Amino acid sequence: MNFPISRFESIETPFYFYDLSLLQQTLNELKKAEEAHPRFHVHYAIKANANPRILQLIAAKGFGADCVSGGEVQAALNAGFPADKIVFAGVGKSDKEISLSLKAGISCFNVESTPELEVINTIAASLGVTARVALRVNPNIDAHTHAKITTGLNENKFGIPAEDLVKVIAFVKTLKNLELVGVHYHIGSQITEPEPFRHLCEHINEWQEKLRAEGISLPGINVGGGLGIDYVAPDANPIPPFADHLDLFARHLNLREDQELHFELGRSVVAQCGSLISRVLYVKEGHTKKFLIVDAGFTDLIRPALYDAHHFTQNISATDQTATATYDVVGPICESSDVFSENEHLPLSHRGDLIAFRSAGAYGEVMASTYNCRTLPAAVFSEE
Ligand code: LLP
Repeated sequence: MNFPISRFESIETPFYFYDLSLLQQTLNELKKAEEAHPRFHVHYAIKANANPRILQLIAAKGFGADCVSGGEVQAALNAGFPADKIVFAGVGKSDKEISLSLKAGISCFNVESTPELEVINTIAASLGVTARVALRVNPNIDAHTHAKITTGLNENKFGIPAEDLVKVIAFVKTLKNLELVGVHYHIGSQITEPEPFRHLCEHINEWQEKLRAEGISLPGINVGGGLGIDYVAPDANPIPPFADHLDLFARHLNLREDQELHFELGRSVVAQCGSLISRVLYVKEGHTKKFLIVDAGFTDLIRPALYDAHHFTQNISATDQTATATYDVVGPICESSDVFSENEHLPLSHRGDLIAFRSAGAYGEVMASTYNCRTLPAAVFSEE
C-alpha cells in the first residue's frame, strides 16, 4: 500500500487511514462473486466498521446490512441501506431496539432464544405489525479460530441448540405476530480454512432433511460471516477470496429452488483497506530489549491486547529499510497489556517516525475507547 506520507505530516496521530480505492475494488470483487449466484445475498456486518463514509460506499454498492444493536440499525438506515435489506441479530435485543427496528420495517430479526420470540411478538402486536424472524441455530462446529471469536460451539451463549429446532419452530407458529422466514448460523470469525464452512453446509443439509421429514420448509438460510483475511501479508492478499467462499456454499449446500442464501461478511470487506497510523514517541533502550513507544495504544486498536492478534507493522517514514533492529512495539497506556508486538523486526526507528499497523479496517476504529481520557482516533481517507 502506498501511503501519502507528506499529507500525513500535518495530521495529528494516531489516526485511521482508509484506502477507499482498495475498498472499492474489494466491493467490486464481492459484488461480482455475489452476482454469480442469483439467490445469494450479501449483508455487510456493520460491527466490523461503522464509519459513515465507509457505510455509505457499501450501501451504494447495493449490499444489505447485518446489525447487532439499535444504534447499528440506525447507522445502516442513515447510510442509505434499504430497511428491507437490514437484518438484526444479537442475544440481548432491548424492547427499544426491537421497537425501532419494527417501525423501520427491517427485513428480519435473527432470534437467539424463546423468551426473545415472545417479546418480539408482543411488541409487534402492540404496533399492529408482523415481525419476520429467523432462528439462530448453534450448530456446535469448531471454527478453529481464537477462543474469544468462536461462536458456534455448544458451550457459548449464542443461538438455539439444533436439537431444539423442531420444538422452537412449533412454538413460533403459535405466535400470531411472527412470520418465520429462515434459519441463521454464524460459527466464528477470522476463519481461513474451508473445512469449518464445509462442516456447516453438511450440518445444514442434515437438518434440512430432518425438518422436511417434519413437513417444515423455510425460505431463507443465513450462514453468517467469518471469512478470514491475510494479516501476515496484506499487500500480497489485499482482497479476500470471495468467489471461492461463495462457490463453496454453492457446491456443498443443498439449496432448494425456492430458497435464498444470505451471508453476513464483516472483516473480509473492510479489514485490508484500513491502517492505524501512529508516531514513535520514544525509543527506549532496555537491558535486554529495545522498546518502540508509539502514540497509539489499545484504546485505538484493541485486537492485540484482547485477542493476541498481530497486525503487520511498518515504519513508513524510514528511508533506509536495510538497517534494521528488533523492538517491542508498545503504547502509552498504563497497563502491561498495551503491547502491539514483541520482537518486531523494523528499520532503525527514531522519534517522530510514522508506524503503520496494517489490516486494521475491521474491528479497529469501531472498538476504540477513551480510557485514560484519551481522544478517539480520527479517520482520514485516501480521497478527501
Ligand atoms: N454475523 C454474526 C452473527 C456475527 O456475530 C459476526 C461477528 C459477523 C456476522 C461478522 O463476522 P466476520 O465476517 O467479521 O468474521 N472483534 C473481533 C471479531 C468479533 C466478531 C463478532 N461477530 C476481532 O477483532 O477479531
